[in-house]
Amino acid sequence: MSATNRSGARQEGDFYKTPKWAIEAVWPEVYSFLNEKALVWTAKNGGEALWCLDPCAGDGSLLQAVVELAGKSEVPVQCSGIEIDRGRWEACEKLFPCFHANCLNLGDAAPSWGSENRKPHLIFTNPPFGQALPILQRAIAEVHPDGLVAFLLRLAFLESEERASFHDENPSDVHVLRRRPEFVQSIKCKGKKPSPATHHPGLNPGPVACGWSVVLPIEAETPRVCSNCGGPVSVTRSDSSAYAWFLYGKDIGGKWTILPGKPKAA
Ligand SMILES: C[S@@+](CC[C@H](N)C(=O)[O-])C[C@H]1O[C@@H](n2cnc3c(N)ncnc32)[C@H](O)[C@@H]1O
Repeated sequence: MSATNRSGARQEGDFYKTPKWAIEAVWPEVYSFLNEKALVWTAKNGGEALWCLDPCAGDGSLLQAVVELAGKSEVPVQCSGIEIDRGRWEACEKLFPCFHANCLNLGDAAPSWGSENRKPHLIFTNPPFGQALPILQRAIAEVHPDGLVAFLLRLAFLESEERASFHDENPSDVHVLRRRPEFVQSIKCKGKKPSPATHHPGLNPGPVACGWSVVLPIEAETPRVCSNCGGPVSVTRSDSSAYAWFLYGKDIGGKWTILPGKPKAA
């Protein structure tokens, strides 16, 4: 759930890849919950593998991080996704079973969230900004009775009249990221360009700010100069909001912690 960045621009389709360090930071909390509920034990001892669903899967990178982290603890895990955007769905589908759909409107595809007999043990995502609440409500309704819902949300999700009754009815543990995640890079031109010629040279206001700006995914190559005027650029990398992982599950609620920040080398 990324906010607009400082420039106010948004990424196409609300696609903001969750940084791996942010997933690693909350993983011990996730693992310890699933362990306490014996789901880890069951998976390790020949029972059902842990099923992790990302209902807004993007290109599957969050699920890849889950596979890696679960692998380190030798927990068998099966991941699947739902993704509305065709291009990202195709990328995710190469890695995991992924359903190309709106996760709030699956129609006949309802089993993608699970079924009466089989429900996801972990619903783990970073939902789109505008649909966080309905997707979270759906996740809480669909998760395994002993399972966990983990959503990366702006800390401001705690606010607002609109969400007050939801929070009362669905207490969460809130694990705040020490540092703001970098979802996008915002590049702005610092240069000036000549003002348009006027018929009265004496009235020419001189060079004016170029004004060019662009928002790119964090992993994209950063332009060194303005593509409009060739002038110098400034780059802003962090998001304008504080973020936290909101966890929902049996016996959860009312605890908050500050998680480790982004390691220097990440
Ligand atoms: C913030 S990105 C997160 C991607 C990935 N989960 C991650 O953490 O890196 C949100 C993704 O949700 C997808 N999306 C938005 N609305 C959706 C919906 N109603 N159903 C399924 N996917 C949706 C967007 O296309 C985008 O890829």
